[in-house]
Amino acid sequence: MADTPVISITNLHKCYGSLEVLKGVDLTAPRGHVVSLIGSSGSGKSTLLRCCNLLEDSQQGEILFEGESVRWKGEGLRRHPADRVQVTRIRTNLSMVFQQFNLWAHMTILQNVMEAPVTVLKRDPREVEEKARQYLAKVGIADKADAWPAQLSGGQQQRAAIARALCMEPRALLFDEPTSALDPELEQEVVRVIKALADEGRTMVLVTHDMKLAADCSDHVIFLHQGRIEEEGPPGALFGSPRSERLRGFLSATAA
Ligand SMILES: Nc1ncnc2c1ncn2[C@@H]1O[C@H](COP(=O)(O)OP(=O)(O)OP(=O)(O)O)[C@@H](O)[C@H]1O
Ligand SMILES: [Mg+2]
Repeated sequence: MADTPVISITNLHKCYGSLEVLKGVDLTAPRGHVVSLIGSSGSGKSTLLRCCNLLEDSQQGEILFEGESVRWKGEGLRRHPADRVQVTRIRTNLSMVFQQFNLWAHMTILQNVMEAPVTVLKRDPREVEEKARQYLAKVGIADKADAWPAQLSGGQQQRAAIARALCMEPRALLFDEPTSALDPELEQEVVRVIKALADEGRTMVLVTHDMKLAADCSDHVIFLHQGRIEEEGPPGALFGSPRSERLRGFLSATAA
């Protein structure tokens, strides 16, 4: 259905051994919306993002992908997804872009972008190549298709990683600090691409330290503090008139 959120998480709990990292978190990513996750280091942002596409197990709470509940077996620390086919379907529909690009060094940029659609989704290589070239053009590096990752700048490598995520034609993109490893001028190349994707109406969940990016492209911002949602809302309210003392402290520290 048109108004079913792409991702809907309720009351998610996640521990690493005795360390409780997420303490009952809710997150909804409606279709066409950008949800940003902000908060101090260690607050649980990456963990929550990785729980969205089932890269991490969680011990309690529900995760729905397009209205379909993740099926679990076991309870607590023994809880795991019950259905591998479902996990693969969800994971291939929620493409992740990491801080460290994670391109395959032994493949050209074009091969990197084509790899998962061909090998995981079993798509026709000729059609995938055409799409891959379109996505490389979209992120502004069509001329780098035959280059090796090591021959690209950090900003170009990250844009290649975004083209690779797009080539899966996922229902949503998940970004974990996509600009944090980049020099400021290269960062802006990537920021422009992310903003263009937001303007196109792509569904995205974005973990970022870049408050300007979060303010400019989000529909909804979640401030995590020690595994709980301390405050959330539209970016204007969250950045313009933060209610919680902790968020005010966080914003003044990041602005400094
Ligand atoms: N694989 C792991 N094993 C044990 N503890 C972990 C693991 N991954 C993360 N943690 C812990 O979980 C907490 C949340 O980590 P997480 O990476 O989600 O934070 P974050 O908000 O993304 O921080 P940062 O801004 O530094 O990336 C931290 O205390 C971290 O040490
Ligand atoms: Mg992180």
